[in-house]
Amino acid sequence: METSKRGQWGSSFGFLMASIGSAIGLGNLWGFPYKMGKTGGFAFLVIYLILVALVGIVLMLGEFALGRKTGKGAGGAYTALAKKYSFIGYMAVISPFLILAFYAVLGGMVLRYCLGFLVQLFGVDGFAGQGSGFFSWLLYSEQSMLLFLLLFLVCTMVIVMGGIKGGIEKFSKAVMPALGVILVVIIVFVALQPGAIEGYKFMFQPDFSLFADGASFFEVLKTASGQMFFSLSVAMGINITFGSYLSKEKKLQRNAVMVPLFDTLFALLAGMMILPACAAFGVDYAQGPGLLFASMQKVFLDGMGGTAGNLMGFLFYFLVFIAAITSSIALLEVLTAAVVDRQLDKGKEPKRKKTALVFAVLIFAIGIPVALDALGRGGAAIQAPYELLGLTPDSPGYAMWNDCWLDFYDMITEGILMPLGALLMSLLLGWVFPNLVKDECEVSGHRFKGAAYFKFCFRFVIPVVMLLVLATQIQSFFL
Ligand code: PHE
Repeated sequence: METSKRGQWGSSFGFLMASIGSAIGLGNLWGFPYKMGKTGGFAFLVIYLILVALVGIVLMLGEFALGRKTGKGAGGAYTALAKKYSFIGYMAVISPFLILAFYAVLGGMVLRYCLGFLVQLFGVDGFAGQGSGFFSWLLYSEQSMLLFLLLFLVCTMVIVMGGIKGGIEKFSKAVMPALGVILVVIIVFVALQPGAIEGYKFMFQPDFSLFADGASFFEVLKTASGQMFFSLSVAMGINITFGSYLSKEKKLQRNAVMVPLFDTLFALLAGMMILPACAAFGVDYAQGPGLLFASMQKVFLDGMGGTAGNLMGFLFYFLVFIAAITSSIALLEVLTAAVVDRQLDKGKEPKRKKTALVFAVLIFAIGIPVALDALGRGGAAIQAPYELLGLTPDSPGYAMWNDCWLDFYDMITEGILMPLGALLMSLLLGWVFPNLVKDECEVSGHRFKGAAYFKFCFRFVIPVVMLLVLATQIQSFFL
């Protein structure tokens, strides 16, 4: 009864594709390469991998177990454990809300680039006469930014309205394998360009010079941890929600390992696509968030040029767009599920479509500052937080307000809510309900291998790492 009204995955493959689809997204294609480019390549990679093993995989399993055990999305799952834990569920729902607000802005920009290259293939100028200066133009073009934000949100909403099996699962099953193929095609193409080797060296040549200075170690730890949360989609209720649609025969553990594995592999491959491409065409990879846009456009437009450049450019941005959509549907689903669960609890008919629409409208509204502040470059339609407060980079507390609305939303989620949520969840699963994960994993009749490892991480490793991350974040407010 209730399950059918809530929805359920049609197959394990579908669930896996949807979970991997949620994990793989702009975090891998935009965040990972630029953060790696900015914070020093190899050192970042090593810390990132350690965090995935000790924190990411463990949290993911915890969330799947919590969702399937309670049969509720993030909002309801904690309440089902005990009323006093409800607040953790609410916290988990704030993150997808803020993240989707900036995610959709970036996704819209990706869509704009994708269409730009598409029309170029037909001989029409796709970049408003700006060539590789298009990024700076786009950021100040209010109409384009809002229009593409809207388009991206509409695509997301339509899929979520289709429900679990008919919407999210169907879409993910169709596009995820294609994504892998396009990625491999581009990587091979890039590898054949002279000079690409420098990019691989930057990623894989051991270099720990960064750690000579303790402060930068903690900075890298904080950046890598935020990236891990974001990229794996942990600590914001996604996996609780997705787990709740999973039937009891399915093996939780295998999925909890497969998703991070694919996600990490994909991040590495994204790095191997973007960094060598920049190296080959003489584009700087330490330039931050613009890497995916300004730098990569330059690679295709000026570096490769001609039809090949337009075709590869189109394929590249199409790949990023698909990856972004499979993530944004997960974000909208968490929010929608939280409300649908409440409607069901109250014995009402669930209103999935209407709920998804209301959230899409709200997210559009809070996405507006992100779309219109030109990423904090100044002089835009909407002022960035630091401009509103009249701060300069030397003012105390500047770091707290960050450069732009995107960074600000990002700091609240990746820097505070997610580590805090992860801390609370691991304390609950490690100390208060120590058998929950094990029991839920064994419901399917399989022995829970590695129970001791997971328990140790829940009890000690995750709390300590999260406290360090939170401390680094809080300390940065005073600098
Ligand atoms: N994991 C996605 C990415 O890497 C982003 C995301 C975060 C998706 C949270 C869903 C939930 O881009």
